[in-house]
Amino acid sequence: MSTQTASVNTDADGFTRVVAKSKRGRSSRIPRLPPTPATQTHAGPSKDEANTKDNDADTKPQTTVLPGKKRSSKRQQQLAKSIVETQVENVLEKQGSLKSDKFRNELQVCLDVIQGFEPEEIVCYGIGSLSTQVSQWQLALALLINQYLNVDICAFDPVAIAADCETLGRFGISIIAENEEAKRTVTKRTLFFMPHCEEFLYNNVLAANWSPEQLARILVIGNHLGRYKDTQSSEEFAAKSPFIRRALPGITCTDLPSEKLLGLRNNPFAFTDTCVQQFGSPSTIDFSIPS
Ligand SMILES: C[S@@+](CC[C@H](N)C(=O)[O-])C[C@H]1O[C@@H](n2cnc3c(N)ncnc32)[C@H](O)[C@@H]1O
Repeated sequence: MSTQTASVNTDADGFTRVVAKSKRGRSSRIPRLPPTPATQTHAGPSKDEANTKDNDADTKPQTTVLPGKKRSSKRQQQLAKSIVETQVENVLEKQGSLKSDKFRNELQVCLDVIQGFEPEEIVCYGIGSLSTQVSQWQLALALLINQYLNVDICAFDPVAIAADCETLGRFGISIIAENEEAKRTVTKRTLFFMPHCEEFLYNNVLAANWSPEQLARILVIGNHLGRYKDTQSSEEFAAKSPFIRRALPGITCTDLPSEKLLGLRNNPFAFTDTCVQQFGSPSTIDFSIPS
């Protein structure tokens, strides 16, 4: 009977592959492990998983199914460890790239806005699966920003598996224990880091903080909220995102630098349409509760 070892390789495209190697010299891809309570810290709706698919091709979880209960749990632990190591390395590498002169110089405008706001905490929603390059870039940016803030960071994404949570933990990020659906009413100045989140999550953040005092306590890094107005009918927008709609006149927006400044062969598309949004003009916002 042949025994198996495993290795974790990162391809040129950044897709982390876990490969089982037989001691007889044969190797094969280990198949995906269906999500189980043991491997998935937060059970995520399949709809949300589907939403990550268009980011890039490397969205598949990297856990494994192996024959034999006892062996599989030990093997899974070893693989999870390797996955975490690889993800940590990939994020650190990307953080280094973000510090490259051109991107970092342009980022200063955003950093000035963020530091001027003096966040007391960072809440990350929707970073996605850290097996993907896009999510690794986004986490790298959140960590880079926090180098200038040095505040507590917590995170939640329903697609996060145990290895993702452990990777986040390695960077000192705590995992939010339950799905808040982004309805957190803040008690201190909070930077919401929500790259490429779905529209309803931004709407929920605003709804949960719907007063001039509360909106002044939040800063959102995420999709241009104003774009939602242009991509659907006004009736649909009003029905779907009444709080975004009302907040628009009060939003001040600072774009992230172009990813082209990273000088990579392939644009990672991690920060497309992403900006820092501050709700600095409450006098222009109608704070009545939408019906
Ligand atoms: C369009 S994907 C973006 C993922 C990643 N940031 C990217 O740019 O590829 C939206 C993300 O929001 C996450 N999400 C959905 N519901 C959420 C919730 N209630 N709290 C936090 N994140 C959520 C999804 O799981 C998904 O990873």
